[in-house]
Amino acid sequence: MKKTNSLTVSLLLVLMASVLVSCNSSTGSYDPNQPFTAVEVFPTPPRPAGQDHVLELRTEPLETVRVAIIGLGMRGQGAVRRLSYIEEAEIVAIADVVPSSVERALQTLERMGRPPADTYTNEDGWKDIAKRDDVDLVYICTHWDLHAPIAVYSMEHGKHVATEIPAALTIEEAWDLVNTAERTRRHMMMLENTNYDFFEMATLNMAQQGLFGEIVHTEGAYIHDLRSMLFAEEGEPGHYWNMWRLEHNAEKDGSLYPMHGLGPLAHILNLNRGDRMEYLVSLSSGQFGLTAYAKEKFGEDSDYARRNYAKGDMNTTIIKTANGKTINIQHDVTSPRPYSRIHMISGTKGFAQKWPRTGIALEPNGHNWLTAEKLDSLLKVYEHPIVTEVGEKARQVGGHGGMDFIMDYRLIYCLHHGLPLDQDVYDAASWSALIELSQVSVANQGMPVKFPDFTRGAWKKLNTVTYYKHDSE
Ligand SMILES: NC(=O)c1ccc[n+]([C@@H]2O[C@H](COP(=O)([O-])OP(=O)(O)OC[C@H]3O[C@@H](n4cnc5c(N)ncnc54)[C@H](O)[C@@H]3O)[C@@H](O)[C@H]2O)c1
Repeated sequence: MKKTNSLTVSLLLVLMASVLVSCNSSTGSYDPNQPFTAVEVFPTPPRPAGQDHVLELRTEPLETVRVAIIGLGMRGQGAVRRLSYIEEAEIVAIADVVPSSVERALQTLERMGRPPADTYTNEDGWKDIAKRDDVDLVYICTHWDLHAPIAVYSMEHGKHVATEIPAALTIEEAWDLVNTAERTRRHMMMLENTNYDFFEMATLNMAQQGLFGEIVHTEGAYIHDLRSMLFAEEGEPGHYWNMWRLEHNAEKDGSLYPMHGLGPLAHILNLNRGDRMEYLVSLSSGQFGLTAYAKEKFGEDSDYARRNYAKGDMNTTIIKTANGKTINIQHDVTSPRPYSRIHMISGTKGFAQKWPRTGIALEPNGHNWLTAEKLDSLLKVYEHPIVTEVGEKARQVGGHGGMDFIMDYRLIYCLHHGLPLDQDVYDAASWSALIELSQVSVANQGMPVKFPDFTRGAWKKLNTVTYYKHDSE
């Protein structure tokens, strides 16, 4: 956070200077002939010599994808189980600093009829794993701080990488991922499972077939009451290792987990493939929820209740894209509210939304929701081909209703066939970039902040997101 604080100071100076330029000095009034522009706090560095972009990267097909899973907490245990269903994947190594978690994962492999994996319980086990020559894919499920370091180190050692969300916590980490992927020509995918949820995939299909016309505005969110988990101490249900997630909420104010809402919208809008996020503005409410909850659980005088928590309860971040689209992303994990990722798409010909009410409205009757019967049949007609292929199995395997399995299935499928992955390093970097960009904006009264262009212009070479199929090439 020190870095963000010093940045904040220099930003304020930049902003004050631009205010002086843009205002009439005698009256202080705004001069429309000299409008403000978004501040380029993080300029896009030139691409290092000898490096090329990795959009639509193809790598050698892998008969069997040999996987190492790092981090076997709540999320990692599910990954072991799900990947065990996929024939073309073999889990060859597992790592966690908690030996009982490693033991549990071994039992899962045995129960699933899979061979035992090599185990690592030392803090740097992921480094030993990256150096192995019999691992193709490093699959990261640790707390957030280790995602980018493990990803970069693993790519440097020739491994493809898939990481739980977010891929990066800072712009610097995001560039490290991009540069390492470009230099090593390895795949780097963030495991954004919400892109594979059933309604989200149907709306992607609808958007790609023009059902919504020109998409103008979208909304997404991560509204999920995590208070009991954030404050769960060791031994309590929902406990995060070392209470790592509470620490992030204590230290940072911004959109800390924007990817769940943004991911599906980003593909519907063809971001990084024909359009890109240009700038954002971000505001946070004050912080009330964590303190109120801590007082109730631990008492008024407890350390938890007296502590300062940086993260305002509700963060709202609005993004403008190069092609003139807007995206509204909300983040609130500390209020007693029903779960919502919103997933709203508004276009010139139609509208769709998943939360709080799932529905679609289409021209020429855009005022009204489609009836339940019409919605149902439309969703059948536009079922995404990948859901048609694997949706039933995904529902059986589960993992957030099946979307987690579709994600793993697609990751292994593309690596097996040597196809470009559905999500690439530019998605990982730009979706994760909201975290630090929103912090900078929040710290400066909603100042507009420019996105770096992680593709360094390559986004103009494509015009659509493609989820590749082996037999349709
Ligand atoms: N996509 C989703 O739907 C979804 C859902 C839940 C969690 N997640 C993400 O998954 C990640 C893990 O979350 P979680 O809920 O499992 O948290 P968790 O605290 O249960 O798991 C983190 C694990 O990392 C392990 N760990 C710590 N240091 C390590 C090291 N040096 N080497 C190996 N392992 C180490 C811990 O022992 C722990 O088991 C987070 O990024 C979280 O945001 C994603």
